[in-house]
Amino acid sequence: MGFWKENIEIVKENDPAARSGLEIILTYPGIKALAAHKISHFLWQHHFKLIARMHSQFWRFLTQIEIHPGATIADGIFIDHGSGIVIGETAEIEKGVMLYHGVTLGGTGKDKGKRHPTVKSGCLISAHTQLIGPIKVGENAKVGAGAVVTKDVPAHTTVAGIPAKIVRVHGKNLSKEEMHKLDKERRVSFFD
Ligand SMILES: CC(C)(COP(=O)(O)OP(=O)(O)OC[C@H]1O[C@@H](n2cnc3c(N)ncnc32)[C@H](O)[C@@H]1OP(=O)(O)O)[C@@H](O)C(=O)NCCC(=O)NCCS
Repeated sequence: MGFWKENIEIVKENDPAARSGLEIILTYPGIKALAAHKISHFLWQHHFKLIARMHSQFWRFLTQIEIHPGATIADGIFIDHGSGIVIGETAEIEKGVMLYHGVTLGGTGKDKGKRHPTVKSGCLISAHTQLIGPIKVGENAKVGAGAVVTKDVPAHTTVAGIPAKIVRVHGKNLSKEEMHKLDKERRVSFFD
């Protein structure tokens, strides 16, 4: 499937308010920002770095979604609302991820090279979540609204709060001791 088909499908699957592909293309800023990113990413990869940055900033102005041209983003992503989203240069986002407004995939300012998060397939990154550093959010994990995440999130878990702690594993509520043990095992960085 191509970019448009996959990106329209995921919106339809997850937003009961979406009525048609045309409505999604015309009224959802996320799909426009992602389409524009495909062009700026192409320019970035072909060493037209200044034009790529200018192109991405132009679309930031129009959509309020800032995606660095270097970021690696799969087709089939859903950005809902979108205002205030910032996605850094070395961030990676896999298929099936949902991002709401106010999300940051940012760096700590301390790391070099790979310094932004990797979000694996099927994750839900709720409104105003801050994912900081070269961390990994595992497959189908959920991050609660307003969380600040500085450590890896295991697959199929829900984390919430500041700093984000594990609150559910496979949708189940474990004992406080088990949650605490899992939290202690979380690494600071997947890329160690
Ligand atoms: C985290 C979330 C995705 C739910 O995931 P879930 O795996 O179904 O988790 P639950 O709803 O069962 O909540 C698990 C626990 O975390 C708590 N929790 C859920 N979201 C939280 C949040 N954002 N901050 C703090 N705690 C939160 C719940 O109260 C519950 O606590 P308990 O164990 O004491 O009962 C959801 O609550 C959330 O934050 N959604 C926001 C989505 C969004 O951004 N919407 C914007 C639309 S415009």
